[in-house]
Amino acid sequence: MAYLINGEGILTGDALFIRGCGRTDFQGGDAGILYDSVIQKLFRLPDETLVYPGHDYQGHTVSTIGEENRWNPRFRGRDRQEFIELMNNLKLPNPKKMMEAVPANEHCGKLTAIA
Ligand SMILES: [Fe+2]
Repeated sequence: MAYLINGEGILTGDALFIRGCGRTDFQGGDAGILYDSVIQKLFRLPDETLVYPGHDYQGHTVSTIGEENRWNPRFRGRDRQEFIELMNNLKLPNPKKMMEAVPANEHCGKLTAIA
């Protein structure tokens, strides 16, 4: 999910990061849907559109659609199937409490809704 603000900047949440993208291996994640959304929607915005990701592990705060389209290593030079294979083989550790956190987020934090 992303929010375009006044046609000038886009809040990309955990979908598109600066030179990265969000994980798709948690419950409900789908690398193909993420690829389609980034390629068909985000990367079709004007190059100068400012990209504000949900967070960044290097301390960067802003990029542009043009920069990410050219240099984001998760997407650069990869077709849809190659992206899916990459995302399905990252072998990242599972964060603690993820099995509880995702369902709770989906229910606006009401844990009783999933009990
Ligand atoms: Fe995140």
